[in-house]
Amino acid sequence: MQKLAIVGATGAVGKEFLRVLEKRRFPVSSIKLLASRRSVGKKLEFQKETVPIEELKKDSFRGVDLALFSAGAEISREYADKAVQSGAVVVDNSSAFRMEESVPLVVPEINPEKISEHSGIIANPNCTSMILLMGVYPIYRLSRVRRMVVSTYQAVSGSGIRALEELLNQSRDYLDELNQSNGSNELNAKKHKPTVFAHPIAFNLFSHDSTVGSDGYNGEEKKVMQECQKILGDSELKISVTAVRVPVLRSHSESVNLELEKKLSLDEIRESIRSFSGVKLVDYPEKNYFPMPLDASGRDEVLVGRIREDYSCENGISLFISGDQLLKGAALNAVQIAEQLL
Ligand code: A2P
Repeated sequence: MQKLAIVGATGAVGKEFLRVLEKRRFPVSSIKLLASRRSVGKKLEFQKETVPIEELKKDSFRGVDLALFSAGAEISREYADKAVQSGAVVVDNSSAFRMEESVPLVVPEINPEKISEHSGIIANPNCTSMILLMGVYPIYRLSRVRRMVVSTYQAVSGSGIRALEELLNQSRDYLDELNQSNGSNELNAKKHKPTVFAHPIAFNLFSHDSTVGSDGYNGEEKKVMQECQKILGDSELKISVTAVRVPVLRSHSESVNLELEKKLSLDEIRESIRSFSGVKLVDYPEKNYFPMPLDASGRDEVLVGRIREDYSCENGISLFISGDQLLKGAALNAVQIAEQLL
């Protein structure tokens, strides 16, 4: 039995931690729910008990065996070491330590052997990297990927609960206004002032909201490019990513073009996906039915389909992936890592 602390318990991923731990019957003897001072006084349910939220402090980790962090990189940088010094193992969902050489970056279906190399902190990959690799790795096992081109369609909940509310509120306001305008559809979504994102998200989409660097790539794109190489242990993998935020509540989707080293048949590829744990093949061209965020939401499996040849290069394969970025893309993967520590 483990004494747990959840840092960021009130957040979009924090709440999923609690559901996943319950669902997978993780052996918990006690749990501390930590968040900012703003949340003190709130309570959450865990295993049919009401647990009060406590303010995260330096000494919050006394007696804790395992701390799951999802309160952003700044909080992880400030508090993860304190948790480790108190004797806890940290599974960190932020980007704070992912690229540090001494910190394993783990997807248990892909590189579980790295878990035992930790020195207190294990990093959970970025949600987009994780969902991407769950779709690509079954193929990578059969043939190394030379080059990968990825375009993402990312749900707003990847940016937290307030972003999710922003999409709902903007959509509601826009539709209310449309109702009152006697059917005129000339209303302009631009006038619905965003607060979380820089641009309106209802009835719109935009380049991912992370900062764009001098090389033209934004932070999300860079994370995916670097993390995929680290997780696969393949620094030669060529990868280019375009990350886009779309008005979807939950689950990220990704369009992927692969250039393989070896020629594989589509049947071999479908079979490799069918037989890979944590992934579901959804590939029904006759019904035009492929992975969708609505189908992926709330599911542990990442959905993979639209598998076809990419005629633009040698041994080219195209596919489409949808996965719940709060589950496999965050909380589920972290709990799977924690299970390997038991
Ligand atoms: P709080 O709800 O008290 O602000 P999300 O990614 O959904 O926005 O959630 C972020 C999580 O990180 C929340 O649980 C939030 O708590 C927590 N958090 C944010 N700032 C702090 C802080 N300074 N100390 C502790 N937890 C924080």
